[in-house]
Amino acid sequence: MRRVEILHGVNLNMLGERDPLHYGTLTLADLESRIASWATELELSASFFQTNAESAYVERLHALRGRVDGAILNPGSWTHYAYAIHDALELTGLPAVEVHLSDVQSREPWRRISVIGDLCLATFSGKGPDGYRFALESLRGVLDGDRA
Ligand code: DQA
Repeated sequence: MRRVEILHGVNLNMLGERDPLHYGTLTLADLESRIASWATELELSASFFQTNAESAYVERLHALRGRVDGAILNPGSWTHYAYAIHDALELTGLPAVEVHLSDVQSREPWRRISVIGDLCLATFSGKGPDGYRFALESLRGVLDGDRA
């Protein structure tokens, strides 16, 4: 089975308490359980990681090399400025998809910038939890192509 890691960054452990207009009402545990069921339907094995420390996020990316087949990243606000995460993702060489629960393009101007977008196959923003389903489907498509 193909393995996909979902990496949540800073403040995403606070889902359920953050502004529901942007982030909905699911907790991170609720969200991860939804993602896990979608992954099972797609015959993918999903693992999860969340941290509020940028260095831990970078180290987790380093550790993914050779351990998973793809990655889904929602780095939270690090998305908009953390070049160390760009470089760590680049060195994994993994197919990756970027997800944001909220529509980052229609919020403050600083959220329109993504430092990882150029490394990602696709970005799903503003689709709520469904963004992760779309991300899993994209990765599944790419990984199936690999196998052919
Ligand atoms: C977010 C969007 C970011 O701008 C914000 O800083 C977050 C969450 C999202 O999922 O919508 O923490 O990545």
